[in-house]
Amino acid sequence: MTGASLPPPSAEAGGELPSSPRGPIFDPSVPNAARIYGYLLDGKDNFPADRAAADRLIELIPGLKRHARLNRLFLRRSVHDLARAGVRQFVDLGSGLPTQDNVHEVVHRVAPDARVVYVDMDPVTIAHARALLATDPDGLVQAVEADVRRIEDLLSRPELAALDRSKPIAVTAVALFHFMPGMVPAQIITALREWMPPGSYLVISHATPGTMSPEDVEKALALYQQANLQMFLRSPEEVARLFKGFQLSEEGIVPVGLWRPEIDDDEQTPTGGHFVGGLGWLAH
Ligand SMILES: C[S@@+](CC[C@H](N)C(=O)[O-])C[C@H]1O[C@@H](n2cnc3c(N)ncnc32)[C@H](O)[C@@H]1O
Repeated sequence: MTGASLPPPSAEAGGELPSSPRGPIFDPSVPNAARIYGYLLDGKDNFPADRAAADRLIELIPGLKRHARLNRLFLRRSVHDLARAGVRQFVDLGSGLPTQDNVHEVVHRVAPDARVVYVDMDPVTIAHARALLATDPDGLVQAVEADVRRIEDLLSRPELAALDRSKPIAVTAVALFHFMPGMVPAQIITALREWMPPGSYLVISHATPGTMSPEDVEKALALYQQANLQMFLRSPEEVARLFKGFQLSEEGIVPVGLWRPEIDDDEQTPTGGHFVGGLGWLAH
C-alpha cells in the first residue's frame, strides 16, 4: 500500500477478518472517526477531544475540511444518479453521523419508495441515525449497528436479508476502507460481489496521499494514530483494483471533486492528501 501502515500492523494487518466485533465504545475523551469527520463537515455532535484531533490534522492538511465536503458531495451525486438510473435499494456502509443530505434524503427526492439501510459500527452514530429515522413513516429506512469487517454476519442481518435480491442494490462504502489494512477491503468486496444481484452498483471513496510528501504522509498517519485511528492510504490504482469483477464507469477513479463535478470553481483542484472515488457496475 502507498505510504501506508505507519502504525505498527495490528493483528488484522495480515488481512484476516476479525472473528469478534470490536466496535468503539462511547468515550467522549477519546477522539472518534465519525465525530472527527462530522466536525470537518461543521457538525455539532463532537467533543473537545475530537475537535483537538481534527484541528491538528487541519494544521497539517489545510484543505482537509474541503476534502471532507467534496467527499460528501461525491456520495450525494453518486446516489442521486443511481436513484435516477432506477436503483431502489441502497446500503450505505460506514454511514457516519447523520448530516445534511443523508443518502435516504437524496434518493427519496428522486424515488420516495427507495429502501436505504445505513450500517455503522459506532453505536452513537447509529443512535443518531435511528432518532432521525423515527420520522420515517414508511419504514423504508433502517440503521444497523455492525462491523463491516464481519461481512457474512452483516449480510445475514434481517435488514439486509429483507432486501429484494432479484433487483439491483447499490452499496456505498464512502471514506470507509482506509480504516482497514491489507486485503481486508478486497475480502469484504468479494463477499459483497457474491451477494449483490446482477445490475448492482458499488461506490467507493478512499483517502489517498495525493500530492503530500512521504514525510507529510507519515506525519498525518501519526496524527491519526494519536487520535486513535489507524489509517491505510491507497493509491488510485490500488482503489481501482478494489473494483475487481465490477465494470468501472467511464470516469474511472478520480479525485472525488472531479467525479461528475457539480461545482465549477477552484475547489475542484485537489491538493495535499485527498479522497479519490469511483462507481462500478456488476454485470453478472
Ligand atoms: C469518515 S466517516 C464516513 C461517513 C460517510 N460514509 C461519508 O463519507 O460521508 C467513516 C465512518 O465509518 C465507520 N466505520 C469505520 N470502520 C468501520 C467498520 N469496520 N464497520 C462499520 N463502520 C465503520 C466509522 O464509525 C465512521 O462513522
